[in-house]
Amino acid sequence: MRRQWWQEEVVYQIYPKSFYDSSGDGVGDLRGITEKLDYLEDLGITMIWICPMYQSPMDDNGYDISDYMGIAPEFGTMEDFDQLVREAERRKIKIMLDLVINHTSDEHRWFQRALEDPNSACHDYYIFKEGDREPNNWRSVFGGSVWEKIPGRDEYYFHSFGKKQPDLNWENPALREQLYEIVNWWLKKGIAGFRIDAITFVKKDLTWKSREADGADGLSKCTKSSRNQPGIGSFLHELRERTFDRYPCVTVAEAPGVAYGELGDFIGEEGYFSMIFDFRAADLDVASGSEWFKRVPWTVEDLREKIMTSQTEIQKYGWSANFIENHDQPRAASKYLREAQGNPEAVKTLGAMYFFLRGLPFIYQGQELGMVNFERKSIREFDDLSSTDQYRRAMEEGYSSEEALRFVNLRSRDNARTPFPWNKDRYGGFSRTKPWLGMTEEYPAVNAADQTGRPGSVLEFYREMIRFRQKGPCRECLIYGDIEPVDSSREVIAYRRYTEKETVYCWFNLGGRETEEKLPEVSAKLIWKTGGEVRIRGNRLLLEPYQSVMVRTS
Ligand code: GLC
Repeated sequence: MRRQWWQEEVVYQIYPKSFYDSSGDGVGDLRGITEKLDYLEDLGITMIWICPMYQSPMDDNGYDISDYMGIAPEFGTMEDFDQLVREAERRKIKIMLDLVINHTSDEHRWFQRALEDPNSACHDYYIFKEGDREPNNWRSVFGGSVWEKIPGRDEYYFHSFGKKQPDLNWENPALREQLYEIVNWWLKKGIAGFRIDAITFVKKDLTWKSREADGADGLSKCTKSSRNQPGIGSFLHELRERTFDRYPCVTVAEAPGVAYGELGDFIGEEGYFSMIFDFRAADLDVASGSEWFKRVPWTVEDLREKIMTSQTEIQKYGWSANFIENHDQPRAASKYLREAQGNPEAVKTLGAMYFFLRGLPFIYQGQELGMVNFERKSIREFDDLSSTDQYRRAMEEGYSSEEALRFVNLRSRDNARTPFPWNKDRYGGFSRTKPWLGMTEEYPAVNAADQTGRPGSVLEFYREMIRFRQKGPCRECLIYGDIEPVDSSREVIAYRRYTEKETVYCWFNLGGRETEEKLPEVSAKLIWKTGGEVRIRGNRLLLEPYQSVMVRTS
């Protein structure tokens, strides 16, 4: 693979509503991010991805944009944004924005215009169908029909996600032109690139045919008909050619539904994007089909299989975007470590296991503190629209309200959206006022101030781990080296990173038992570890529960 500047980055994802509130209204903001840049610089972050901060009614916390070139007033102004870019640049931190172009808000002026005048050009920017009932039985990602009736008219509009997120009609070339102008406008402003939202949804099955129902609601998942459909390539190729190709930028697409065999088109040398997120490992506990709310039991071996397949498949074509958390996922410690979620040694090994994979590491805010899920007692405590829908649907499928609440608590997107705990003060130092979403109960014990400078803390561990990848003696191999799985005990994930000149073997014990691994050669040199003393007996390596070890050979 040809070397690219972005292969060396370490990305930190910010959910602006919950990062830091500088204005005291209970909602995080752009100045808040600027004030905390020193924290990120000290951590060793080189790029931040900011979830949408554009004007929005916030039905889906900014993923419903009403003005692509304006900043949401609760987040600040365009001056605040420009200042953030300047201040970040001073610290050599690059900025990646979230690009949401599969849909807009229903409050976007294009949609408003389309409603006002069905003969206007804007009407064809969206997907409208006439009739006295929903044109088909597709279910939206957030529940209910993908079709919403327009009051007073026999007309419906299409939305893959929430009702207030009408999908754009990518079949219309004039609409695509408008989008390219917006993308180029931001790139010209000097941002480093984009994380691209739900981009595999832009092409639909244009027959609009109903499918066999897969739930008690009589509907069928829309992803079968409106995600990664044949013909999507020409849209994505054009998008790249008209925008990203003209700037030295980086793009990471949220592209669910892409088969490994198609990766060449998406991330190969001439691919549509620099990278895409692979969700197969992150979703290993999610059942597919109608049993979606049941958690699937899984073992470390299953996780290893998913991660290593993803790594070796992506390696054939391009570069990975590695993550264990984001704003749509539960906290990684709770999901992957289960009963060991509160054990800092386990949290560190989980962090190191994905961090040293081949590709760009993404860290989601609070992950570096080892935050865990926040169990809510009532559905009223949730803000996320998909959580409320999942609760309703679980009950529709015959579960009790307690069971429904349990499902939602395990997987809710609100687990990771709680305000960032900066210190142990009231509201965790996040805000002077009651925050928009409840803080987790753990914040007096788990917060950034407490962990800063404290030997053995998860935060200090992340700082050290980032430094080791970026500046350590094996940086060349750990950043650019190829990857290959290595045989190990059942609860251990092990791999080998290698270049022509050097090889690093890595073992991560994700189980609560001591294990014995085989060293490739007796003269292997220990270069990095977590936990206690590393015990080597001849060619055997003894791993403590939750210990990580890296050795170099040759
Ligand atoms: C993506 C985002 C998610 C959002 C959805 C609709 O999946 O990550 O937060 O709700 O797209 O824009």
